[in-house]
Amino acid sequence: QKQKVLVTRNVPQAAIEIIKSSQSCHLDYWNSEDPIPRDELLKRVAGLDGLYCLLTEKIDSELLDAAGPQLKVVSTMSVGYDHISLPETTKRGIAVGHTPGVLTDATATLTVALLLVTQRRLIEAAGEVKNGGWGTWKPLWMCGPTLTASTVGIVGFGRIGIAVAQRLAPFGVSRFLYCDVNKKPQSVEKLVTPNAEHVDMDTLLRESDFVSAHTALTLETAGMFNKDVFSKMKRSAVFVNTSRGGVVNQEDLYEALKSGQIWGAGLDVTVPEPLPTDHPLLSLNNCVVLPHIGSAEESTREAMATLAARNLLAGLAGESLPAQAKL
Ligand code: GLV
Ligand code: GLV
Repeated sequence: QKQKVLVTRNVPQAAIEIIKSSQSCHLDYWNSEDPIPRDELLKRVAGLDGLYCLLTEKIDSELLDAAGPQLKVVSTMSVGYDHISLPETTKRGIAVGHTPGVLTDATATLTVALLLVTQRRLIEAAGEVKNGGWGTWKPLWMCGPTLTASTVGIVGFGRIGIAVAQRLAPFGVSRFLYCDVNKKPQSVEKLVTPNAEHVDMDTLLRESDFVSAHTALTLETAGMFNKDVFSKMKRSAVFVNTSRGGVVNQEDLYEALKSGQIWGAGLDVTVPEPLPTDHPLLSLNNCVVLPHIGSAEESTREAMATLAARNLLAGLAGESLPAQAKL
């Protein structure tokens, strides 16, 4: 009897090859660029042994009930797993796999690009070239806050947060401050030059010229970047978020950007995704919004896809997963 597996989207072919190479799998493949509709998903999960999904699928008790008690593993092709209810999977003894590590470099690089694009107003400036707004070279035109000798605050000093700091160091940043649930060992703080300093959130907000969010979305971090937080930042501060849109209160961010409470923001993640084209944030010149492309490098996406496939097969075999999500 073959084990039933569903892949919910068109993913890199290498992952499909891995799944097919396991002779014991029967593969149902939603081979589309677009998400599987919820009601179709609920139908197709019935009787599954393994589910390979993306961050666009909500894995909750309704879905797990529709799948049935034989479901052994949910493997998401993403590092974030806030779309999966871990209390529900844990209760049912279902293993959950994700893709940490393989997208750290790509996401950190995109974060730095977004920071630079926002700070140097590149989208706005390139727009001026096209719309005739480029009159002449002007000393005070298209200026932004300075990166060299600045203080950078990293909220969530994990794999990606550390890699962002490492990439920014060569620009001559003079201090790296970080907030994290725990102070990291000195060996970790020394991975960047100058050494990262663990501080409380108020200190980070007060002293940072650039604030970059790298926390997972959890009950604790949901909406944490709110009015109160923006009001504690410098008026010259640039806020960057490549983690999850849900960590930001977007109404409060809009007000902070509109009123000049902070200088600018670069977002790769929003609520909802896609952000409606008439969303207030898109009317602001000092807000750059990207369509959740942090890990969008070809080899990175392939590495995520194949790691997710290996997680899936390990879960089906009842083995421990190469990368298991933790509650
Ligand atoms: C992307 O956002 C991911 O979690 O991999
Ligand atoms: C800028 O182009 C300069 O020469 O200062």
